[in-house]
Amino acid sequence: MQLVMLGPPGAGKGTQAKRLAERLGVPHISTGDILRGAAAAGTPLGKRASRYMDDGALVPDSVMVGLVEERLAQPDAGRGFILDGFPRTVAQAEALDGMLSRGGRRLDAVVQVAVPQDELVRRLAGRRVCGDCGMLFQVALDQSPNGRCDSCGGPLLQRDDDREETVGRRLAVYERETAPLVGHYRAKGLLREVVGTGSRDEVFQRIAGELG
Ligand code: AP5
Repeated sequence: MQLVMLGPPGAGKGTQAKRLAERLGVPHISTGDILRGAAAAGTPLGKRASRYMDDGALVPDSVMVGLVEERLAQPDAGRGFILDGFPRTVAQAEALDGMLSRGGRRLDAVVQVAVPQDELVRRLAGRRVCGDCGMLFQVALDQSPNGRCDSCGGPLLQRDDDREETVGRRLAVYERETAPLVGHYRAKGLLREVVGTGSRDEVFQRIAGELG
């Protein structure tokens, strides 16, 4: 299965993509995670990307397209993939169509997760991420003993771009640059629209239902 998860910051793309990847046995490819990993490692890509991410802006298409093309060429992605955070502009979507068709592949579906803006802001303010294993937490919902990850015991951290002032910019960038992809994929007959409110299990069941 070759899937794209689409939706605004905080919609739950990462949460649901991880579950789907486990269910389907394909890699979860999160461009945000790749960029944050590069930033933490201090690579040239990471240093360049941090400047955009910290501002809530998009990393240039030329950088992102090359990065995703390289990742999709790795053997594990031959079985399928769940792309989370890419594409994010019409140019990225067209580049993805091109790279897949050159390899004789195509997307099976694009899952758009819709959540009202006030709920997105609440979720982003309450998000914590394990600094060791990357597990996602929500302070309003998850018990995390001693502020540590209940899976591996690692420290629970707040993402730099989840600060209130950056969240507003990220939501505006989503509306301007990424929301037009809904029409792009609807026109191709690939769009599956899912309500992203309710529990994480309920949202997962809705997505699974849409994918058949
Ligand atoms: P990225 O990491 O992709 O961030 P994003 O798209 O803004 O999405 P988020 O990770 O914020 O949210 P999510 O939808 O995954 O929600 P989550 O599951 O975590 O990108 C970060 C930056 O990298 C970008 O701003 C840009 O600079 C750069 N970048 C990345 N890709 C790029 C690209 N292609 N082009 C250019 N630049 C790029 O859930 C959020 C919270 O809600 C969590 O706490 C979770 O536990 C909780 N939650 C989830 N589901 C529920 C539920 N049903 N009920 C209650 N809480 C829930």
